[in-house]
Formats: sequence, C-alpha cells, structure tokens
Amino acid sequence: QVATVSEPILAVANALANIDVFSSLAELAVRYSYVRPELTEDNRININQGRHPVVERSLVDSSFVPNDTYLSNDDAQLIVLTGPNMSGKSTYLRQVAIIVLLAQIGSFVPVASATIGLVDRVFTRIGAREDLVAGQSTFMVEMVETANILNNAAPRSLIILDEIGRGTSTYDGLSIARAVAEYIHNYPGLGAKTLFATHYHEMVELASFLPRVKNFNVAVIEEAGKVIFLYKILPGGVDKSYGIHVAQLAGLPKSVVYRAREVLVELEEDSGKALAKPSPKGRRRPEEVPQQLLLLGQKSPLLEKLEKLEIDALTPLEAINKLYELQKKAREG
Ligand SMILES: Nc1ncnc2c1ncn2[C@@H]1O[C@H](COP(=O)(O)OP(=O)(O)OP(=O)(O)O)[C@@H](O)[C@H]1O
Ligand SMILES: [Mg+2]
Repeated sequence: QVATVSEPILAVANALANIDVFSSLAELAVRYSYVRPELTEDNRININQGRHPVVERSLVDSSFVPNDTYLSNDDAQLIVLTGPNMSGKSTYLRQVAIIVLLAQIGSFVPVASATIGLVDRVFTRIGAREDLVAGQSTFMVEMVETANILNNAAPRSLIILDEIGRGTSTYDGLSIARAVAEYIHNYPGLGAKTLFATHYHEMVELASFLPRVKNFNVAVIEEAGKVIFLYKILPGGVDKSYGIHVAQLAGLPKSVVYRAREVLVELEEDSGKALAKPSPKGRRRPEEVPQQLLLLGQKSPLLEKLEKLEIDALTPLEAINKLYELQKKAREG
C-alpha cells in the first residue's frame, strides 16, 4: 500500500529536505551576521573581513580575527602564504574555500562584504592522510592529489594548497612546492586562482619574478621571549618558523626543547658556512669561467634579445623554438 504512493512520499521528503537546508542557512545567517555576497562572472574574488564559520564558533576565550582576500586572474593569481606554525594559515585557506562554496550554493557568508567571481571547481590539497590499505603512504597520497589538481584545474578554478611538499625531505619538498607553483602560474590554460600556504620561506622569492604571485604572511609579535599570534594576514613574506616555540607550548619535555634549540643554532651556522664556502682550492672550476668577457657596461646581444622577448605573447611552441634559437646562438659564441 505504501509502495503505491511512494512517489508523492518521496516528493514530500524532497520538499522537506529543501526547506530544512534553506531554513538552516537562513537561521545561521541571522544568528551569526552573515551577509549576502555579490556573485559575478568576472575573474575576481574579493572578500572583506572574512571569517571561518566553524573556527569562529569554537573559540571560547578569544575572538576570531577576520581577514581580507583578493584573488584575481589578472594580477593576484597565486598567493604564497607564509607564517609560523599555529599562526592560522590553514584556517585562512579553508575559510576562503568555504566562503566561496557557501556563496555558490546560495547561502549568505561570514564576511563584512564579498564579491565572488563564480568558480567552476574548488580543488584542495590539505592535511596528512594515508591510505595504507590501498598501498599509499602519506606522501604518495599528497602527490596523487596534487597531480589530480594540476591535470584538471582550469582558469576558473580555485586551488587551495596547504603545505605541499611537507611530507618529504626539505629539498625534495621545496623543489616540488616551487615547481608546482611555477606550473600553476605559467602553464598555458591553467592560471587558476590559488592560495598556497607553505613553511618554505624560499617560496617568497617567486613573487620577484612571477608577476601574478603575491606574498602574504600571518602576523606574530615577539615579546619578552614569547610569541604572540595575531592571526592577521599582511602583505609580504616571513623568515621564521617558531616551530620549537610551538613544540614547547605543546608540552614537549624541557630537555628536548632545549636540545632542539641547540641543534637549530648548529644547523643554521652550518648552512651559513656552506653558503660562504669558497670553491675547491679557492679557484674557479673551468665550467664556471664566463665564455666571453664583456667590457664593463656592455650588454651581450643575446641578453638584449632575451630582454626584449614578450613571453606572454608566445605560444608554448614558439617559446621552445626561441629557446633553441638562443641556445644555438650561445653555443656559436
Ligand atoms: N583568524 C583567527 N582568529 C583567531 N584564532 C585563529 C584564527 N585563525 C586560526 N586561529 C587559531 O589558531 C589555531 C591554529 O591555526 P592553523 O591550524 O590555521 O595554523 P597553521 O598556521 O596552519 O599551523 P601549522 O603551520 O602548524 O599547520 C586554530 O586552531 C585557531 O584556534
Ligand atoms: Mg596548517
């Protein structure tokens, strides 16, 4: 008997589910002061005083610090976000993704105001997950997910990358992180808006030669040997991690923290020495000798050619042809 009226029952259930979703979204919006975002078809995401809807509710004895976001395919395509451990990088990345998602499902959003250029997909690479049953280690999962993003993202997509490369050795990790960022910026037809949180301070350099990369950092202040987290996103990069400070907060035994500080000093001294180290026997190796000594102030014709090249106007094929041409000239001297 019930089966004979299954269709109207399902229709009612469907209607109730819709009402449930929309009334919940409406209640949230009223209760927590969400506002109506403006949805546009251009290539910009502009968030004024955005908040993370879950983290802001979970804080008991402090209040959530809102932050702005500006992403644009034209001038701020890839944001490199640096900042100490525990400073709020992951929270910020997720908050941007959640705000965009909420806006696109028709919800109000936790911001003061926001203009969201529609995105076609949100890609995320966050956290350390492993799938031992499927034979995938943490790092393997990280790389599989990254590959999926690079192979499928488009200019209209939003990409959230949280600490790519963290799962492997420093140099491998940094190299991969940097290559991934360069690819997202340079690969024709990709160009997706991207937030890239990283603990590799070297990533900050990218902004000096990739025009659509912008650096931001999460502010902290050091006072009387203590680190105070401000959770404010500011323009520019940082060069300190405070990882040992966080380890101490977490309750690692005092002797471990003390020893970690010692080791850090040793390592930093060593890397300083390595940089200053002269080449073997204080002489230049033969391959390092410039092929052609130019008179002071005189620029090589090859460099001039390179300087005038309008890379943005070249197709990949033309670019590689130019490269061959320049190499040929260089070899001929
Ligand atoms: N905007 C904010 N306002 C207030 N508190 C915040 C804010 N953002 C983050 N926090 C607090 O800081 C904690 C750590 O944040 P989060 O995990 O984002 O740091 P992280 O920089 O990603 O750290 P890690 O480098 O260790 O991954 C959060 O759990 C939250 O309690
Ligand atoms: Mg994090």
